[in-house]
Amino acid sequence: MRLKDRAAIVTGAASGIGRATAQLFAEEGAKVLAVDVPSSAILTAHEGVPGIVPLALSIIDPGAPDHIVGEAVARFGRLDILMNNAGVSGRQFIDQITDEDWDRTMAVNVTAQMKLARAAVPHLRQSPAGRIVNVASVMAEGTDLGLSAYCASKAGVAGLTRTLALELGRDNITANYLLPGAIETGMTGPLWAARPDVADIWAKKSPLRRHGQPIDLARAALFLASDDAAFITGHGLNVDGGLMLRV
Ligand SMILES: NC(=O)c1ccc[n+]([C@@H]2O[C@H](COP(=O)([O-])OP(=O)(O)OC[C@H]3O[C@@H](n4cnc5c(N)ncnc54)[C@H](O)[C@@H]3O)[C@@H](O)[C@H]2O)c1
Repeated sequence: MRLKDRAAIVTGAASGIGRATAQLFAEEGAKVLAVDVPSSAILTAHEGVPGIVPLALSIIDPGAPDHIVGEAVARFGRLDILMNNAGVSGRQFIDQITDEDWDRTMAVNVTAQMKLARAAVPHLRQSPAGRIVNVASVMAEGTDLGLSAYCASKAGVAGLTRTLALELGRDNITANYLLPGAIETGMTGPLWAARPDVADIWAKKSPLRRHGQPIDLARAALFLASDDAAFITGHGLNVDGGLMLRV
């Protein structure tokens, strides 16, 4: 029960990494506000799991960050952990990418993380162990064709998180980020099912010769959210099966 009596927000919690993390946090004793868009499976994804309260709301709706944080505090009376996980990806070459593509990727992947952190900080300051865990990507450091917006947004997550760590340390709030590698989730699963050759390439990039699973990320998020990581802040943790080792 490493998160006994803690209260958490997990965004993007209907699927993949966010879903697994919300459930692991709840198993470890946390109360969890599980947020995802209304068109997702958020209202059913955690049915029967004690401790999880779903909220169907887009994190980029006007006023959403205050609404989400307010809901967590109203439900649980406190807020200890913000897990900024929701994200979108897309592949457009530079001569095709529209302003809308760019703006949406930035809005979901990095601007919403900042706005949620800003709304959460006054409450995290009241916690004995405030935690911010942001989800970036190995694409914060690497890249691939057509990923200008995604890579820029994930590099933004790294810079945002390091600055949060610097500013909030005096309040005993840590801020760290995860760099997932190739993980089998709603973001990748449909493509890999249609293109087993592509799935195989991504599995072989890892020395462990497999895709990551959502639980691999959930366990890393649990570590960063728990007391075990009390003296770790501003850190980017690769959870990629060694995918980034080779140049
Ligand atoms: N799957 C991978 O290989 C991989 C690799 C690196 C980083 N990541 C990152 O991991 C995070 C989780 O993604 P995943 O792989 O679990 O994918 P996923 O598609 O299974 O889950 C992402 C969730 O975010 C939700 N979401 C999207 N926009 C939202 C919004 N505006 N408001 C609320 N929720 C929203 C989606 O509805 C979805 O349920 C993302 O930030 C992603 O960029 C994933």
